[in-house]
This record gives sequence, C-alpha cells and structure tokens, in this order.
Amino acid sequence: MDRIRIKGGAPLHGTIPISGAKNAALPLMTASLLTADTLELLNVPRLADVALLLRILENHGVDHSVAGKRPGHTVETGQAIRLSAASVIDTCAPYELVSRMRASFWVIAPLLARFGEACVSLPGGCAIGTRPVDLLLKALEDMGVVIEIEGGYVKAKAPKGLQGAEIVFPKVTVSGTHVALMAATLANGTTVIENAAREPEIADLAECLNKMGAKVSGAGTSRIVIDGVSRLHGTTHAVMPDRIETGTYAMAVAMTGGDVVLENTRPEILDNAIEVLEQVGVDVKMTNEGLHIHRNGSGLSAVDITTNPFPGFPTDLQAQFMALMTRAKGTSRIRETIFENRFMHVQELARFGAQIRLDGDAAIVDGVESLKGAPVMATDLRASVSLVIAGLAAEGETEIHRVYHLDRGFEALEAKLGRCGAEIERIRAS
Ligand code: EPZ
Repeated sequence: MDRIRIKGGAPLHGTIPISGAKNAALPLMTASLLTADTLELLNVPRLADVALLLRILENHGVDHSVAGKRPGHTVETGQAIRLSAASVIDTCAPYELVSRMRASFWVIAPLLARFGEACVSLPGGCAIGTRPVDLLLKALEDMGVVIEIEGGYVKAKAPKGLQGAEIVFPKVTVSGTHVALMAATLANGTTVIENAAREPEIADLAECLNKMGAKVSGAGTSRIVIDGVSRLHGTTHAVMPDRIETGTYAMAVAMTGGDVVLENTRPEILDNAIEVLEQVGVDVKMTNEGLHIHRNGSGLSAVDITTNPFPGFPTDLQAQFMALMTRAKGTSRIRETIFENRFMHVQELARFGAQIRLDGDAAIVDGVESLKGAPVMATDLRASVSLVIAGLAAEGETEIHRVYHLDRGFEALEAKLGRCGAEIERIRAS
C-alpha cells in the first residue's frame, strides 16, 4: 500500500487550484440515471470514489466517456464525463460495489423514479458511525414505495410510479434530501421536503436537475418544493468547487503559516468555517485571483467549535480543525454532533505529541508548543488529511500509512501542496 512521507516545517506559499466537489459530483453522476439522454458533467475530480461510482453506473448499463486532455490542462484540471443511461439493463446494485461507498446507495432514487423498481445492497463507506438509511427509506415509503429488506438488500417497488408527498425529515440528512429530491423529480404531483439539508451540494444537484427539465424550487433552504414531470432530458453542468478541500487547504496554511491563493472556489460555501479561521488568527480575503489565506508570525488562538449541518461548522472539517488546534495557544473544545464515532484521528494525532482527551461527544485539545513527526495511520478520508496537516507543521519526518483513504477525496494532494513548498512525497507500494 502507498505511503505519504512529509518533512514538516515549511510554510506554504503559492496557489492551489480547488477541484470539483466530490460530494456534489457523486449525486450529479447518480442523477444521470434519471434520463435516457446524455448528461455531461464538467469539473469532475479524479478520485477513487468517482471511479467506483462509474463502475456501479456501468453495472446498471450506463455508458460513459471521459474527454481526453486538452491544451493547457494540468493534473488538477477536472474531467469532463458524459453519461448516458439510455439502456439500463439492471436495476440491482450489488453488495461488492455498494458496500465500498455509502453514496452509491443513492442510485435507489433514480432507479425507482424511472423504472419503478430497485434492489440495492445496504451501504458501507467510511467507518465514522452507524450511518443508517432509515430516513431515506421512510421518505421513499412516503412516496408510495413498498420496501422489503432481505439478505442485506433493500428491495423496493413502486409499480404505479412514485407519488408526490410531504416529507418531513426528523433530523437534517444530506443523503435523505438527495434521495427525496431525485425521486420527486419524476413523481406524480408535488413533493414538499421539510427540514431539508441546506448544504450547497443539494443546491448544485437541484440546479442541474432544473437544467434537465425538473421543477425544483427552494433548494439550499430547509423547504424544497418539487413539481414532478414526466421525463427529464440531458444537459451540461459544471460541478461546484469542493468546500471541504477549500477548508482543508485553508487550515493547512493556517497551520504552517504562509500565504496561499485558493483558486476556483467561493467563500460563501464555507461560511462558518471562515469566521472560525478568522477567530483563530488567519486572514481570509476574497480577491480577483481567488480566496487568499494568510498567516504570518502570529500564533494560533484556541477556538471552540460544534459541528452542525450547513451553514454550521462542517463535520467534514472537524478532524482538520482539531489538527490545527493542537498547536493553538490555550484549550479548544471540539464537539461532534453529526456522527457519533468521528474521533478516530485523536489517537493518531497523539502520536505527534498532541494533547487531546475525549469527553462524551467532545474532544478537548490543549495546544502544545510543537509537534514531532511520527509514523501514523489514516483511518478515514477526513481523518487522514488531518494527519497531513499535522505532518506539515511537525518537526522531522512523518509517514502516513493507508493513504487510499486520501485518494477517495483529495485530488492530486501531493502535487498541490508540493507546488506551495511542502516537502511531501508518495512512496508507491512495490
Ligand atoms: C454526507 O453524508 C456526506 N457524504 C458526508 O461526507 C458528510 O459528512 C455528511 O453528509 C454530513 O455533512 C456525501 O455527501 C457523499 P447525512 P450522508 O445523511 O449524506 C444520520 C466525506 O467525508 N442518518 O447527512 O451520509 C447519520 O447517521 C463524507 O466526504 C440517519 O440516522 O450524511 C448522521 O448521523 C463522510 N438515518 C446524520 O443523520 C438516515 O437514514 C447525517 O447524515 C440517514 C442519516
């Protein structure tokens, strides 16, 4: 298995192009199943999760082509992928594929909406809690779907088509909102989703669905209204920038000090995280070139955070923020309210000399003067990049094992950090 080796201590200076968002690309690709026409997606990141979803879609009969390199393209230029679900031959998504990535379960919605049936293995994905699908299934039942769970598979049928419904989520769920939104586009009548997730990726999906002929309003707010239509058509849509990648590099610069412009991104998609970084002592400014992140000699202030659904502080930046707080002046309390088991990076950060103790759903971080490089192991996608952030600031050498987690969600990580002066290299498994 590949490893990443980092020699810590170098401040970051330069520019980092931000990729298309993984968590927008995945539902957008899934939405290709809603139409027999071609959906062309631009700015798709080159990630293991994208490749896996392509395999899953292929298994349903979706044809895809990836445009070749063009003049001026770099390793970070996103891909243009054309997806055509003209002849879906299989409405079953098998365990071998779905168990490797939770978001692949979402194919259940377009398959039901277009074909009235789906058989999808219960999902897997990053080990960050129990992550059930009860709310997704309840939303589909509200729309008239009959569901049986048998042998680890969800067998769902809607012989008379999906019916518009009022769906009230008892808690905010990104997956539930994506599924209900996709299903409702082709339902008979109007669907109202209450307590919908407001994450920007939901609005990005809705924008693409509307370009495909859907009638969605209110996406990005907690009440989404969808008037069902009889068919959707193809379109071209560029995937929005990755807000978690943006926040991650902003925290890396905060950690090492330096001055970096994050290109092709938007500050409003980070919202609360920018305010938090400013409280920590980082300058964040939107300029014509991009999002400017700057910290010079001054130290980091300890700040308390609580993860929350958008526009709150994202759970997907919690591990990175914890890495940052290990070097802050004072004590920071980091509360995780979205996933119950998302502190696996704590014991790995401790290997750098970080002082962190757990207290229920919170981690208490006592900032230390310096971190020391160490061999560490990645445990999930965001946890693994928190180890990169710690390694960039630690004295000496850090080796991160199991980097396949990083490859699921960070495109060209070593290249992007390397061009800003980080001493980082991948050691390929022989
Ligand atoms: C999405 O996961 C993201 N994944 C996650 O990013 C992100 O951490 C999460 O939203 C929260 O922002 C993708 O977009 C592909 P949820 P999702 O449904 O949709 C509970 C990453 O690192 N719940 O909003 O699966 C659930 O257990 C990943 O890129 C139920 O109880 O998250 C959790 O506690 C990791 N029943 C909470 O709701 C359900 O049926 C929020 O989950 C569904 C969810």
